[in-house]
Amino acid sequence: MIAAAGERYTTLCNTVRPHEAASAPPHRRSALRHRFLSSSVVKTGVKLLLDNEAAPRRGRFRIWKVVPEGRFELPTPRFSAACSTPELPRHGFSFYWLASDARKELQTGPGTDRIKVSQAMRVGTIRETKIEEYRVGLSVAGARALVGAGHEVLVERCAGEGAGFADADYEAAGAQLRDGPGDVAANVDLLVKVKEILPPEFPLLRPGLLLFTFLHLAPLPELTRELMSSRTNSIAYELVRSTDGRLPLLIPMSLVAGRMAGEVASQHLKKPGPGRGKLLGGIPGTTPARVLVVGSGNVGAAASDVLTALGATVTVTSRDAVKLARLEERLEGRITTRVTSPAALREELESADILIGAVLEPGGIAPKLISREMVRSMGVGAVIVDVCIDQGGICETSRPTTHTEPVYVEEGVVHYCVPNMPGAVPRTSTEALTGATLPYVLKLAERGLDALKRDEALAAGASTIDGRLVCEAVSTAQGLDYTPLAEALP
Ligand SMILES: NC(=O)c1ccc[n+]([C@@H]2O[C@H](COP(=O)([O-])OP(=O)(O)OC[C@H]3O[C@@H](n4cnc5c(N)ncnc54)[C@H](O)[C@@H]3O)[C@@H](O)[C@H]2O)c1
Repeated sequence: MIAAAGERYTTLCNTVRPHEAASAPPHRRSALRHRFLSSSVVKTGVKLLLDNEAAPRRGRFRIWKVVPEGRFELPTPRFSAACSTPELPRHGFSFYWLASDARKELQTGPGTDRIKVSQAMRVGTIRETKIEEYRVGLSVAGARALVGAGHEVLVERCAGEGAGFADADYEAAGAQLRDGPGDVAANVDLLVKVKEILPPEFPLLRPGLLLFTFLHLAPLPELTRELMSSRTNSIAYELVRSTDGRLPLLIPMSLVAGRMAGEVASQHLKKPGPGRGKLLGGIPGTTPARVLVVGSGNVGAAASDVLTALGATVTVTSRDAVKLARLEERLEGRITTRVTSPAALREELESADILIGAVLEPGGIAPKLISREMVRSMGVGAVIVDVCIDQGGICETSRPTTHTEPVYVEEGVVHYCVPNMPGAVPRTSTEALTGATLPYVLKLAERGLDALKRDEALAAGASTIDGRLVCEAVSTAQGLDYTPLAEALP
């Protein structure tokens, strides 16, 4: 492993030991005579300065083993690299790998192994500025993991404060603190955030910057345009999709929002407030609240867990009969399930105290399954928690609210429509989100855009690459030209 700042720098400066040269196979011996004079991490990559006294004057140049100071073996047993050059100077030959190729495989020549050369990347995070958003894109543990992998980490001062991560903890993890988002964004290769880039943050975008965050671009043409015109490379958390079809970066947030949906529904059904004043599970001799959950995915399942545990009578409806069956089995028959149809929705809502909206059309807009008339039929003091409001919501009467003013009343029914529900529990949400994103952040830090060629899940999240829109769902939603990812990647 080579090519990082700090410790690995010294690793590169060591001489290969003579007795190793003697025991090396013949085709490797000449390479062993070369000596690293110095190495340095330069802005664009890593530069190695070599004494190539015994090197061939032309052609392929090999280095295949570096022994770190005071140790005989490297943690990885062999290091080698090769590069072609028309003419090698006698002393002080140097070569680079550019930052856009964060990791390259180089052939060391016949009979030798293929090796990997890694290099440091600068990874940063900034404070979220969306209203009432307290999560942060990189936890202290994430910063430590990146530094441990040889990368530099830049964190805007106070970025983690809302989630309970102090600046001093980031510093102790090896991160560098910077004043303001501009100082971070201008100096990193990879910017890791939570929410989409807001208009005041547009000046942070620039060519070659790799942005990894929730984007939800379909309803945001202005941001799509900015990402393209600034030639920022962007990957959307919500579209990262594993080969089994799961959305690993959306799931933790859906679990948080689903559990919260059960809690806030229970809270707003009570007084004081416009709710009808019912205790979710009732007590013996009274009827528990009746809940209709629309959608049987992560949100629907997590909400059902909480609501059944609190004693509510829960019906889950979804178009996916297989998922419904699985959920019914998991909850050991404590819920009733129905395949979604307008008739079924109408019937269920007439007697429901609570409606939870939990459907997902990936990359698109939520279907308006619940009409105004259906909302009215729930009666005064009923509660709607439209979790999928981030995709527009399933009710004709839903519109986004905030954590400060989370509810409004329409048709007598309380509507809770907060698009960033996990923002209310930033510590839990940051731990959950960064736990899920970190493996991908490490891959991006290690390989840059090359990671998209090797990782199908990450490739599915690619949204804009060097000025081109590579997400088909967004291009359809906004009527823009679509470029397949393979054509857009360098
Ligand atoms: N407000 C928030 O803070 C917040 C947080 C997390 C997730 N969400 C949103 O919650 C929604 C659900 O997320 P998820 O992770 O549970 O998704 P998921 O893919 O796990 O589940 C979606 C469910 O919707 C069902 N569905 C889709 N279209 C349907 C239709 N026309 N009729 C009936 N059922 C339909 C699917 O069968 C599936 O059961 C998404 O819109 C997501 O963006 C919001």
